[in-house]
Formats: sequence, structure tokens, C-alpha cells
Amino acid sequence: KKTVREIDVQGKRVLVRADFNVPLDEEGAIADDTRIRASLPTIRYLCERGARVILCSHLDRPKGEIVERLRLALVANRLSELLDQPVVALRDCIGPEVESAVAAMNDGDIILLENLRFHSEERADDSPFAERLAGLADVYVNDAFGASHRAHASVVGVPQHLPAVTGLLLEREVSAFTRILEKPERPFAAVIGGAKVSDKLEVLDNVISRVNLLLIGGGMAATFLASRGYQTGASRVETDRLDDVRRIEANAGRRGVRLILPRDVVVAERLEAGAPTRVVSATEIPDGWIIADIGPGAADEFSRELGNVRTVVWNGPMGVFEIPEFAEGTRRVAAALANLRGTTVIGGGSTTDAVQRFGLADEMTHVSTGGGAALTMLAGKALPGVEALDDAETP
Ligand code: 3PG
Repeated sequence: KKTVREIDVQGKRVLVRADFNVPLDEEGAIADDTRIRASLPTIRYLCERGARVILCSHLDRPKGEIVERLRLALVANRLSELLDQPVVALRDCIGPEVESAVAAMNDGDIILLENLRFHSEERADDSPFAERLAGLADVYVNDAFGASHRAHASVVGVPQHLPAVTGLLLEREVSAFTRILEKPERPFAAVIGGAKVSDKLEVLDNVISRVNLLLIGGGMAATFLASRGYQTGASRVETDRLDDVRRIEANAGRRGVRLILPRDVVVAERLEAGAPTRVVSATEIPDGWIIADIGPGAADEFSRELGNVRTVVWNGPMGVFEIPEFAEGTRRVAAALANLRGTTVIGGGSTTDAVQRFGLADEMTHVSTGGGAALTMLAGKALPGVEALDDAETP
């Protein structure tokens, strides 16, 4: 599929779907502007070449009605600071006022449409709504990797009505995942963690058929330990997923994939700062205690193993890293990846947060801006937003 680099945009009205779904703090300010920064290359590229840039995005999950604190004006302000250029925030994303604002644009101008999810038609992928958005522009650019797993109007509907191309962020994200999944330099390892096996089943099933080594951490290790018959204390075991876990283990065995569970774990009476903690063998978790992190022995082993591979993909923290007492396992894995001379891909969501918190994001080959979209790619499934581009007309 063509990217913005391959088309002439001078004087054209270009509708860019970005993912400005940023976390907000309690005061309603932007808590982390990573996604805004990640969109800058495409926006700059278009402006410098004389396009009239019409940006659009969702923010959070308003249900088809206006929510004042979810107006995109705050994103426009941040964009304007970062680009050192005015970015005009409109009060709606369709309608006569939007149309006249677009008609008044000069080459190189930037406007940002209002939160798309103030209209329920966005999530419903309503065709007249998509057509009205498309009617604002000459060309459509999808740069919203983080939203491309959603078959919403601005993602899959608009490219049915406009010539469409890939933005620079979307291109970078998709090629990072495709490269490691299709042509990894070996040995290839996956580190999978997080709270629940059920969130990662499709990812586990896909990576097991591609990797040489699979390291499991996080709360979900409890379900793996339980499937091997160990006591897991008060940790959450997904009893309805034990068969899935056994299937994954059997698959690993059949394919010669080394699947390593933490040998020791940090357990706590409660998953709270200041709660009593202990380090215990993963095969002997005492009654009443909950897995909060991988233990130091496991962190040593994981680091050693990761020192011997050429490619790593990591999704899911090793423990409750938001609480300092339970952050060490995640920090050690992040450090092992940072030291690796090879390809390291961080699979989005809380794993990206963790790597940033430890100040190690710049040491990685690729740090994904997607949550669900990254999981979809790691599960080996197509993104509806990318498929829509494939089906669309090219400028
Ligand atoms: C995300 O944050 O993963 C994307 O922006 C998609 O948001 P959604 O899960 O509300 O569709």
C-alpha cells in the first residue's frame, strides 16, 4: 500500500485519522503525550509539503454525546506547542461550521476535528457519517495504528469514499510487528506477562508457533503453575483456561519451544503498597499469598536467557510494576532487553508504560503506541484499518 511519501499533497485537503486517545490525569490534563508525539512525523511531512491537514481522533469512550472534559482542544494545544504552529480545534467533526472552517484553510494549515465518539455513528461505522467526514477532504491518511483494530467509521468507512494511503506511524508499527513475526533473526524469544491468560490466549497461540523461547511472567503465571499441579495460594487462577494452558504447553513441547515459568515469585498478602511480601519458590506458594512479581531468581534466569537471543517481543509486565515493591521483575526484563544487541519490540499498553517509566524506551528497536492493535498483530490477525487501506483506491 502507498504511504504519504508516495503521493503529491500540495494544496490538497488531507484527512488524517490519528490516535490521540491519551491518558488524562485527575485534573483533566494530558498525563502522557506519547501518542501525540508519535503522530508528529506524518503531520510535519504533510504541512511541509503544502497540504491542508485535517486531523481527527477519538478520545476515551464517550457514548455518542458531548462530554466537556473529552474535547480535543487540549490535544490541539499540545500539538500546537510541539509543532510550534497554530492548530485550530473545531467544536464538531461534521456539519456546516466544520465545512466552512475547512473551506477557509490555506496550504500548510492544521485543524483538529472534535472527538469523533461524540457521534454514536463513529463506533457504528455508519455510512452517511463516514461519507460526511470523507466529504471534507481529497485524500485520507490512516496514521492511527492504536485504533486500527476498530472497525469504526473513521477507520474503515472513510477509505471507502476517498483515495487512501498509510501514514508514517502506521507504516512503522505494522512493519515492526510484521518483520519480527515473519522474518525474525533467531533465536527469537517472546516474553508474555500481564494479569490474565484469557487476554493473551490468541497471542500465546500465535507466538508459540514462531518463537524458540517463551518466558511467562505476571499474574497469569499462576494459571500455568496451577496447570502443572502446584499450589498458587490466593493468586487468581483462571480455572476455565487450564485446558488452554495445557494445549499451549503441549504445543511448545511438540515444536521444541522452551517455555519457562518463573522459578520463584514475590508474593504479597495484598496487591497494595506497604503490604507484607515474601520471596518464595513458585512451586510452594503459601496459602493466602498472591503472586505480585517474578522473584529475583526468575529475573536472573530470564535476563540470562534473553542475553542469548537475537530478537525479543515483549507484551505484559512481570508484576504489578506500578507499585514499587513489585516493579523489580519488570525492570530487570526491561534492562535485559535494553542491553540486547538485537531487535526488541515492545508490544504496547502497560508494557510500553513500564519501559517509559524505567527510562529505557530509547534503548528499544520499537515501542508500540497500540494496546489492542498490538495484541491483534501479535495474535497474527489482520487489522481492519489496514485491510480497509488495501481495499481503498490509491491517489
Ligand atoms: C487504545 O487506546 O487502545 C485505542 O485508542 C483504542 O481505544 P478503544 O479501546 O477505546 O477503542
